[in-house]
Parts: sequence; structure tokens; C-alpha cells
Amino acid sequence: MIREGRMTPAQSRALVELSPRYGVQIADTGIDLHALFGNHAPCHLEIGCGNGDCVISLAQANPGNNYLGIEVHRPGVGSLMLRAAALGLRNLRILNRDAVEALAIQIPVSSLDHIYVFFPDPWPKKRHHKRRLLQPNFIASLRDRLRANGRLFIATDWQGYADHIGEAMAQVGGLVNLASPAAYAPRPAWRPQTRYERRGGRLGHIVRDFVYGRA
Ligand SMILES: C[S@@+](CC[C@H](N)C(=O)[O-])C[C@H]1O[C@@H](n2cnc3c(N)ncnc32)[C@H](O)[C@@H]1O
Repeated sequence: MIREGRMTPAQSRALVELSPRYGVQIADTGIDLHALFGNHAPCHLEIGCGNGDCVISLAQANPGNNYLGIEVHRPGVGSLMLRAAALGLRNLRILNRDAVEALAIQIPVSSLDHIYVFFPDPWPKKRHHKRRLLQPNFIASLRDRLRANGRLFIATDWQGYADHIGEAMAQVGGLVNLASPAAYAPRPAWRPQTRYERRGGRLGHIVRDFVYGRA
């Protein structure tokens, strides 16, 4: 269960005033990514981007790429929009929708160069494992949205989730573990550190990175 939490007045105002600039409308049809960004640059998607620690940093560092974030938690989306506007980012958009639905309905197949799923909610209790986002059906949906040779990057600081990801990946064809024969990839130097990674570090967790390529 995702709790909405309280929205600050600034976040509420951002959702009203900045959605025309940074928001993507919830719709029943696929997004025209070229029209959305006004160019044909590579498109990178972050799923569960929270308040944008990672996607904002990547968008700022790589103005030649387009970045789309999907996040279900509205206060986080409000914060992300405020930060994007303060930086004047032009290559970032955010869709405030459940990622499973958003992918199935709005993200065209074979449209993305990179997908990032960093520090997804771990749901550590056994009875909650079925709530984990990275299940085989969803991973297959991610794969189908990548272009040929597109890449899927994942990181988690929960070993139980890392094991679960390895098992789920083994059930999905068409994605090649680029770290093979090792299970885990080295930490990508460009992956910005977020508060969740820092919290994992404080708890003594080891961060596991995965990189898969679409065959
Ligand atoms: C643990 S936080 C990590 C946030 C961010 N990736 C980071 O590393 O800072 C997980 C995020 O995923 C979002 N999330 C969880 N399930 C989601 C779903 N089905 N669709 C979209 N976002 C989701 C949560 O609201 C939360 O912001």
C-alpha cells in the first residue's frame, strides 16, 4: 500500500503550475515521445523516480538525452517539478501514474534506450513479496519497451530483493545479463547516489547493481 503522505503548499502549487511544462497527461493511448520532447534524441525512463534525485541529475548531466520519470507518489512528483523548474531543465518529463499501467498503456514498444529501476520498494516481509514491482510479467513489459540493444539498469540494497530479481529474470527471455558470468554488475559510475542508497549504506546493506541488454 502506497501512502500518499502530506503535500506541502509548494508541492501542490507545483503540480498545478508546472504540470503543463513537466507533466505527461494520463491517457488511454501511447505517448508520442518525439512530439513530447520536440526532438528525436534517445529516451531514458526511470521508474519510481521519487522526488527525482537520480533522474534530475542525469537530465542535467546529459542534455542530449530525453528523460521520462514515472512516479505514483504525488508529493514526490511535486518536488521533482519544483527542482526541474529551478534548474530550467528542458529534457525531463514526469508521468504521475502506476508504472505497471503506464507501461502497458502509454509507453510505446521498442521506444526506449535505457530503463532505470533504482531502489524499488523492497517489501522485505515474505507475505508482501508479491507486491514487489519487479515480477516476471512486468520485466517482460520493460523488455518490450526497450529498443534492440537497449539497456535495463536495476539497483537494490536488499539482498532478498536481489535474489528475487535474479530468479524473476531467469523466467523472462530476451534480456541478456551484461555482467555475466557474474550475477551483479559493478556500480555504474554515472548512477547518482540517492537517499535510499545512503540509507542502505547506513544500515550496512550491500548495493547490488544489474545491467541487462535487450537481445
Ligand atoms: C524506495 S523509493 C526509491 C526512489 C528512487 N528510485 C531513489 O532511488 O531515490 C521507491 C519509489 O518507487 C515508487 N513506486 C512504487 N511502486 C510504484 C509503481 N507501481 N509505479 C510508480 N512508482 C512506484 C514509490 O512511490 C517510491 O517513490
